[in-house]
Amino acid sequence: MGLPNTPMLSKPAVLLLLHLLVIANSVYSLQQPFNCHDQERSALLEFKQSIFIDKSASGSYGAYPKVLSWKPAEGTNKACCSWDGVECDEQTGHVIGLDLNSSFLYGSINSNSTLFRLTHLQRLNLADNHFNYSRIPTSIRNFPRLTYLDLSYSVFSGKVPSELSQLSKLSFLDLSHNLDTSSGKRLLKLDGFVFRSLVQNLTSLEKLHLSSINISSTIPDSVANLSNLTSLLLSDCGLFGQFPIRIFELQNLKVLTVKSNHDLFGYLPEFNESSHPKSLNYISVNACNFSGMLPSSLGNLSQLKHLDLSDNMFHGLIPASLANLTQLTWLSLSNNNFTSSSLLWVCKLTKLTVLYLERTNLSGYIPSSFGNLKHLIFLNLLDNEVKGPIPFSFGNLTRLTHLCLAINQLSGSIPESLFNHMDLEVLYLQENDLHGTIDILKLPRLTRLGLDGNKLVLLDESRRVNATALPKFKFLSLRSCNIKEFPNFLRYQRSLEFLNLGGNKLEGQVPKWMWNTSTESLLFLDLSYNFLSVFGQLTVVALPWRNLQVLRLQFNMLQGSLPMPPPNMIYYSISDNKLIGEISPLFCNLSTLSFLDLSNNKLSGMLPQCLGNFSDNLLVLDLGNNSFHGILPQTYSNTSSLRTIDVSYNQLQGKLPESLENCVMLESLVLSNNEFNDVFPFWLGTLPELQILAMRYNGFYGVIGKPHKSSRFLKLRIFDLSYNNFTGEFPPEYIFSGNTMKEFTPNEAQYMETNTDSGLLVGETVFSYGYPFSITITNKGVDRYYEKIQQDIGVIDISCNKFEGKIPEFIGNLKGLRFLNVSNNILTGTIPSSLGKLTLLEALDLSNNRLSGEIPQQLKQLTSLAYFNISHNNLTGSIPQGRQFNTFENTSFEGNPGLCGEPLPKKCGDAKTPTPLPPSSIDGVDFDWKFALAGFGSGLLVGVVLADITITRKRELFLEIVGVLIRLIKRIKRERSGCRN
Ligand SMILES: *[C@@H]1O[C@H](CO)[C@@H](O)[C@H](O)[C@H]1NC(C)=O
Ligand SMILES: *[C@@H]1O[C@H](CO)[C@@H](O)[C@H](O)[C@H]1NC(C)=O
Ligand SMILES: *[C@@H]1O[C@H](CO)[C@@H](O)[C@H](O)[C@H]1NC(C)=O
Repeated sequence: MGLPNTPMLSKPAVLLLLHLLVIANSVYSLQQPFNCHDQERSALLEFKQSIFIDKSASGSYGAYPKVLSWKPAEGTNKACCSWDGVECDEQTGHVIGLDLNSSFLYGSINSNSTLFRLTHLQRLNLADNHFNYSRIPTSIRNFPRLTYLDLSYSVFSGKVPSELSQLSKLSFLDLSHNLDTSSGKRLLKLDGFVFRSLVQNLTSLEKLHLSSINISSTIPDSVANLSNLTSLLLSDCGLFGQFPIRIFELQNLKVLTVKSNHDLFGYLPEFNESSHPKSLNYISVNACNFSGMLPSSLGNLSQLKHLDLSDNMFHGLIPASLANLTQLTWLSLSNNNFTSSSLLWVCKLTKLTVLYLERTNLSGYIPSSFGNLKHLIFLNLLDNEVKGPIPFSFGNLTRLTHLCLAINQLSGSIPESLFNHMDLEVLYLQENDLHGTIDILKLPRLTRLGLDGNKLVLLDESRRVNATALPKFKFLSLRSCNIKEFPNFLRYQRSLEFLNLGGNKLEGQVPKWMWNTSTESLLFLDLSYNFLSVFGQLTVVALPWRNLQVLRLQFNMLQGSLPMPPPNMIYYSISDNKLIGEISPLFCNLSTLSFLDLSNNKLSGMLPQCLGNFSDNLLVLDLGNNSFHGILPQTYSNTSSLRTIDVSYNQLQGKLPESLENCVMLESLVLSNNEFNDVFPFWLGTLPELQILAMRYNGFYGVIGKPHKSSRFLKLRIFDLSYNNFTGEFPPEYIFSGNTMKEFTPNEAQYMETNTDSGLLVGETVFSYGYPFSITITNKGVDRYYEKIQQDIGVIDISCNKFEGKIPEFIGNLKGLRFLNVSNNILTGTIPSSLGKLTLLEALDLSNNRLSGEIPQQLKQLTSLAYFNISHNNLTGSIPQGRQFNTFENTSFEGNPGLCGEPLPKKCGDAKTPTPLPPSSIDGVDFDWKFALAGFGSGLLVGVVLADITITRKRELFLEIVGVLIRLIKRIKRERSGCRN
């Protein structure tokens, strides 16, 4: 079964040969044509007996049960040679060919199968049947004359037997796509050494098709010695190591695919006029680890029809010589690291039907000559920097069914000519600057439409027409389209799977008819960032979309109680509304839930106890800023996936449940602003991923003594104990020894977040989300909410407790610290000079303690320090001068009667004041908070859609954008600075 255009056998040649033989031996043939041997006939009949006919066993269109015609005919022995699929040698009468592909065969086959008595076989084709997870029998070695063997798509499993490498005459070998019928997993395994001996022994191979076999090995160099090789298919084999570059020199090679071998390294060689395979017409290295530049000589492969280099690490310019590949019908260069190039070279490739150039760093205008590509069916230019208008010549692309221009800088109005495409099924224009109107009635076949973030107006004439004239949408994304009312045509949609109306101006009540729209099919509903006040009724209500998996209603003005999600919910966010009432224990039936954000509402009551362990899939549990009281759920399963728990700003009480220890994935635990009453939870130190532990404003108390068992907070970097009742010394060495904050590489670009690693499959759309960690911490003496946190931030805040003793020298080891606040305690002793080692420190607050001695000169090394407060202590001596110290106000130092020198009014008597540095030498230090609220954070939601492209049986990826999510500031809480008691 290979690729569509690769004939399995040269049938005409065989027939012609037979014909000549028939004439030459006509007299003999007339007497005894096709003399079928009894033994072989009974072998075939017994094989027929041993197997079932089952229509579901074959998938291809022309399948039929060939063996049904096999009948034992009494008295004549020539019958078997004329049976369907059986070919005999006309002189010897031996069966030499058996072609049973797509024959509805179902059942096991093993080494004693009578098939293996047909020892004269030269050709065997059993493809596209269901052999019920049989091993490939070792008695395959009984066929030493075999030249052709096709066992593809036939549900064989287990190890490929080494006996295959004895079939040294094989020129065609196809074992590909033996997959589990339900899971799609690869069933066959080929040991690396068997692979090697196959390639070494089967020197006549012309076609070697091993796709979707788990090989997990390197590709032997000796493949490049198979001088007659025309077709090499090795996709999805788990191959790794270096791709043998000499394979590109095989003179007869026509088809090469190694796609989806993610650890296969390689590059493209120079294709010199003399040495390159002249008839190479198909190359796919999609989703491997190829890199390097594309050689300009790639343009010499003039026969190339299919070129897929997508999802690799190629870099450099896309060579203009690609314009010479005029036979190309399929081109994908998506998702590489190319440097900026224009689209001009494409316009010569007039035979293209598929063009994927997603994320290829294209820039400039779309040339008008793009309209030359009249055969295009799929066009994807997602996420480039293409600008200017969509050319009018797009009207020539009349075959286009899939058009994605999302995330570019296209402007101007949509050309009217685009609506000539009655066949358009997918139109993605998200995140451009387009304006004008889109009349859906002119695109009746449309099933997927994305217009987010443009100035486009959707013309809704549905009131005037028969509902059957409307497109039947599956995917509709109209985020940030300035929509003020629910579009009327939604009333008639019965098959919507994905609906995004977020970030619009919808207000008031969700219309009643929405509750009847696509109730069976809807999987994803986003109405977030609108002004909706009523969703359904005000009382507890079950949502009508019974298969809904993602519901995003955050940032509205919704009143009433929590809508009860259907059982398959995965993602439920209704934060930042005005909901009241309790969390129903029925939430605990949502065993697939992975994301639950109910924060910033007016919910109350006790938390259902089951909330800690109802779903092993739960990653995010955010209940912050409501009015919950009572205790935390006490039981957490040891299969928990929880990464974020935020219960801050409630009235929760009691001790922390020690079974939180089971949440070994936990990265962030935010307990702040509650009424918890417990000693320091050292046992949380066993959580290997914990990065954020925020406990501020609670009733935690007691001395933080040496822990009983070794429990290290290995990854902790935001640690906030402020506003509690801790006493005794603060022992950072018990908490931070072994901590990664000690050797820290700044990494400003990354934010801490919980994300779905591979994305959730919602219908045909892969939905992935990042949930940024957010936290309120003290900054410049003011509490501030940060909706995103840089990955390299280090914070220790123990302010407003009753800690005594000295500031530990140890703190100077925590090089990643950016904020250190020990203010408002009863600390004594001197300021440790080791603090001068914290070169990343941006804020240092030691105020309101009983510190004494002089300010260490080493603190002048803190060149990032923007906030410094040592007020209200008993410090003495002269204030260091120069660098950052020139920028601090006298409030930083006040309340220390013994301190003198600038900026305090008190002069130091005889002190030798160091000459201040002139302002110009302050290194241009930027005193802004490097991670201060950067306006709005934005979390990009990217979805991948699997669209049916009927090229072989494979489904190709077509990427689409779900929308850019603007995550607004969730809550800004300012508390008065100072301590409450
Ligand atoms: C195949 O032969 C082995 C012994 O040679 C026997 O144990 C097994 O049952 C046979 N299988 C079938 C299906 O006949
Ligand atoms: C290679 O083929 C020869 C026969 O042509 C056979 O004797 C030998 O065992 C084969 N080698 C392997 C490793 O199968
Ligand atoms: C390659 O094919 C040619 C032509 O069919 C044939 O003569 C030759 O023997 C083949 N080479 C190998 C190694 O089988």
